[in-house]
Amino acid sequence: MVLLILSLNLFLLSQNGVLSCNKQEQDSLRTFISSHSPPLNLSLNWSPSTNCCHWHGVDCTSHNGAPRVTHLWLPKKNLSGTSLTLPNLPFLAHINLSHNHLSGLLPALPPRLLTLDLSFNSLFGPLIRTFPLTIHTLDLSSNHFNGSFDPSFLLPQPSSLAIFNISNNTFTSSNPSSICHISPLIKILDFSMNQFVGHISPSLAICSNLQVFRTGSNSLSGPLPHDLYTLTRLQEISLSNNQLSGPINKAIVNLSNLIILELHTNQLSGEIPQNIGLLSKLEHLQLHSNNLNGTFPPSLTKCSNLTTLLLRNNLLNGQISKLNFSKLQHLQALDLGNNSFMGSIPDTLCLCKSITAIRLAFNQLSGEVPPCMASLKSLTHVSLTENHLSNAVGALNTLKHCQNLAVLFLSRCFHDERIHNNDSDNLHTFKNLQILTLAGCKLKGQIPTWISKLKKLEVLNLSFNRISGPIPAWIGSMPSLYVLNLTQNSLTGEIPREITRLPALISDNRGTDLSHLALPFLYDKLQYNRLFNLPPSLKLGSNSLSGRIPTEIGQLKLLQVLELSNNKLIGSIPEQLSNLTNLEKLDMSGNDLTGNIPKSLTKLHFLSAFSVADNDLEGEIPKGGQFETFGIGAFEGNPKLCGEVIHRSCGAVVINRRMPEEENDAGSRSVWYYMRFPLGLGYFVGLVGGTVLLFFKRW
Ligand SMILES: *[C@@H]1O[C@H](CO)[C@@H](O)[C@H](O)[C@H]1NC(C)=O
Ligand SMILES: *[C@@H]1O[C@H](CO)[C@@H](O)[C@H](O)[C@H]1NC(C)=O
Ligand SMILES: *[C@@H]1O[C@H](CO)[C@@H](O)[C@H](O)[C@H]1NC(C)=O
Ligand SMILES: *[C@@H]1O[C@H](CO)[C@@H](O)[C@H](O)[C@H]1NC(C)=O
Ligand SMILES: *[C@@H]1O[C@H](CO)[C@@H](O)[C@H](O)[C@H]1NC(C)=O
Ligand SMILES: *[C@@H]1O[C@H](CO)[C@@H](O)[C@H](O)[C@H]1NC(C)=O
Ligand SMILES: *[C@@H]1O[C@H](CO)[C@@H](O)[C@H](O)[C@H]1NC(C)=O
Ligand SMILES: *[C@@H]1O[C@H](CO)[C@@H](O)[C@H](O)[C@H]1NC(C)=O
Ligand SMILES: *[C@@H]1O[C@H](CO)[C@@H](O)[C@H](O)[C@H]1NC(C)=O
Ligand SMILES: *[C@@H]1O[C@H](CO)[C@@H](O)[C@H](O)[C@H]1NC(C)=O
Ligand SMILES: *[C@@H]1O[C@H](CO)[C@@H](O)[C@H](O)[C@H]1NC(C)=O
Ligand SMILES: *[C@@H]1O[C@H](CO)[C@@H](O)[C@H](O)[C@H]1NC(C)=O
Repeated sequence: MVLLILSLNLFLLSQNGVLSCNKQEQDSLRTFISSHSPPLNLSLNWSPSTNCCHWHGVDCTSHNGAPRVTHLWLPKKNLSGTSLTLPNLPFLAHINLSHNHLSGLLPALPPRLLTLDLSFNSLFGPLIRTFPLTIHTLDLSSNHFNGSFDPSFLLPQPSSLAIFNISNNTFTSSNPSSICHISPLIKILDFSMNQFVGHISPSLAICSNLQVFRTGSNSLSGPLPHDLYTLTRLQEISLSNNQLSGPINKAIVNLSNLIILELHTNQLSGEIPQNIGLLSKLEHLQLHSNNLNGTFPPSLTKCSNLTTLLLRNNLLNGQISKLNFSKLQHLQALDLGNNSFMGSIPDTLCLCKSITAIRLAFNQLSGEVPPCMASLKSLTHVSLTENHLSNAVGALNTLKHCQNLAVLFLSRCFHDERIHNNDSDNLHTFKNLQILTLAGCKLKGQIPTWISKLKKLEVLNLSFNRISGPIPAWIGSMPSLYVLNLTQNSLTGEIPREITRLPALISDNRGTDLSHLALPFLYDKLQYNRLFNLPPSLKLGSNSLSGRIPTEIGQLKLLQVLELSNNKLIGSIPEQLSNLTNLEKLDMSGNDLTGNIPKSLTKLHFLSAFSVADNDLEGEIPKGGQFETFGIGAFEGNPKLCGEVIHRSCGAVVINRRMPEEENDAGSRSVWYYMRFPLGLGYFVGLVGGTVLLFFKRW
């Protein structure tokens, strides 16, 4: 029925003679589509019997009474071809072939071209064509164009180019902003993600209409040119990830239209201009990871439209207690981490009702977590690690009201306090918590039972405290837990058998939660943007745990790190450990383990760190696999062990230096190659390695 009406419509249109297409142009279009969409995508409905002006993605405009094709608009159509050639259409003005699989060099272009969008294809080579005088919008981003970039060659003068995007290619050369000499009318300029070097040229100042200037992720160096501060129409400056140095001039406040200022990850120094708050339209200010010093400019608290304020990893200092954040009603992310700020957490932060992430970690803040933070209902991420705060229990009782809280870092920010094991505190209202760290706070008491209620908790770090008592059996039924760090406490009793049932270490029920965290976080000295990337770990080292290592531990197939060192464990090393095929680190040193080292441990192909030092083990040290890479330190302090590596021969047995078996050899060699990465990369590497291993197993 619909079809009928449609064809009836078409019929009527062509009957009326409205815009019936030019025969030559129709043929040219068909040649184009047949060479770039083989076989012809019939659903495009480019049938010779219909007027080509009605074809999908084609549009015509009347020129001297005759319809001529002016639009070729075929983004995301799975077009391909190794050598892009455009149809011969003299009136073609608007081309959008973005998000296809087109390859080849930049093709010859029609003379009346206004818009050309070839982004997200695989075009390559240098830009050695001159664009038509008419060109207005040019998007060649996200291709493989390379070579040196020479605007004087590219564009005729005077050009009316307004939008120019060549981001995400591999262009080289210096001074791309010399394009302003040729196209002074340019409004949007995006050079980001290329290999441009040298200084940002003063010729930028000629582009007095410039609204957006992006040249992040290149290798630009030198200072921010003074002429930049004269471009008063600028709404966005993004120069992050370069090697820019020198100060941010206070003339920046002349850019009163600025909404986005991203200068992060450079080597900028000096102070943040105190009057920067005059930029009243500012929404995103990202100055993190530079060498900026001085204080937090109080004027910034007047930028009522600010949503993102990132100043982490600088040399900033001074009191922040008196800052009045009450005007920042749109603020979502505040990161002042890794500076030297002092004073208490300002109460007025509680008035930022939109805030989702607060990171004040690695400063010298004192006082308590303000009780008013309980009212921040949107808060998902709080990091206060490494400060001098007090009242851990108070902090927990405040933050438990932030029901959306998913990430809570409180390590090394309290000292010598006692944590309650008291359900009346109702701390289980932290029901969305995924990460909780309270490490290095010298906390006393037992592992609190409210933690057992945190069904979404994936990472629990209580290491480096003075927590005593047993490891509670309920830990084993926490449905999401896959990183547990209880290192350096005073825990006693046996390793509960229940812990070997941790569901998230047995099968990966984390799905593909690749969601970005509001702010990145540092964990074990590495920066993570996603929770998903942490290596599954069980760290129980440096406690007073006794009894045997439960044999059921072999069930925790996903474990990559197992640390049981410096306890009072007895009995033998369970053979079942060899079932933990993802293990990269296994430390059982400093216990009272007896018996042999199971030969089957040589099957752990990803094991890069291993120690059984300082036990009472005996017999021959197994050979082969990763065991060929462990040095003497891994075994010393076991008088009854023997083997080449510790230079103690195994009685009458003559030790032959035998090569590992043939099949193992091939497999583990590739694996060893990957194992040379530091442990932190393990998860990713593990995946790659795993693939390699499977591959060899199949043979
Ligand atoms: C064919 O064209 C139609 C538009 O008419 C589009 O929806 C479809 O994705 C195209 N198929 C392929 C394989 O390109
Ligand atoms: C795109 O085209 C290729 C062949 O060129 C085909 O294998 C693939 O299935 C197409 N994809 C879609 C989404 O139509
Ligand atoms: C081209 O098409 C894509 C996909 O529809 C769109 O996002 C893009 O804005 C278009 N390009 C231009 C210059 O309009
Ligand atoms: C340039 O293109 C990239 C995609 O290749 C896009 O992400 C970016 O936003 C564009 N730049 C501007 C200023 O629009
Ligand atoms: C960069 O370009 C490649 C190739 O077109 C594309 O796959 C990738 O998504 C682009 N990256 C960004 C950040 O736009
Ligand atoms: C550009 O890339 C091509 C391959 O795509 C390569 O052969 C050529 O050497 C590169 N040119 C420059 C200047 O890097
Ligand atoms: C900024 O504006 C002030 C006052 O309008 C002017 O005196 C100064 O020269 C301007 N600075 C720059 C770098 O344009
Ligand atoms: C900030 O750094 C600059 C040089 O980078 C230095 O001249 C200045 O004295 C420093 N200011 C403070 C307050 O440390
Ligand atoms: C804040 O943003 C709103 C909406 O975009 C805008 O109307 C308002 O003028 C901005 N405020 C300032 C001070 O620029
Ligand atoms: C913060 O500023 C608001 C509005 O300017 C004012 O009403 C409030 O009293 C100030 N609060 C503090 C603690 O200074
Ligand atoms: C967990 O425990 C280890 C001891 O193995 C310690 O060195 C490490 O810093 C802890 N991890 C974190 C993230 O604090
Ligand atoms: C290792 O796991 C396999 C399969 O899950 C099981 O059959 C085997 O008994 C386990 N081996 C040990 C030593 O636990």
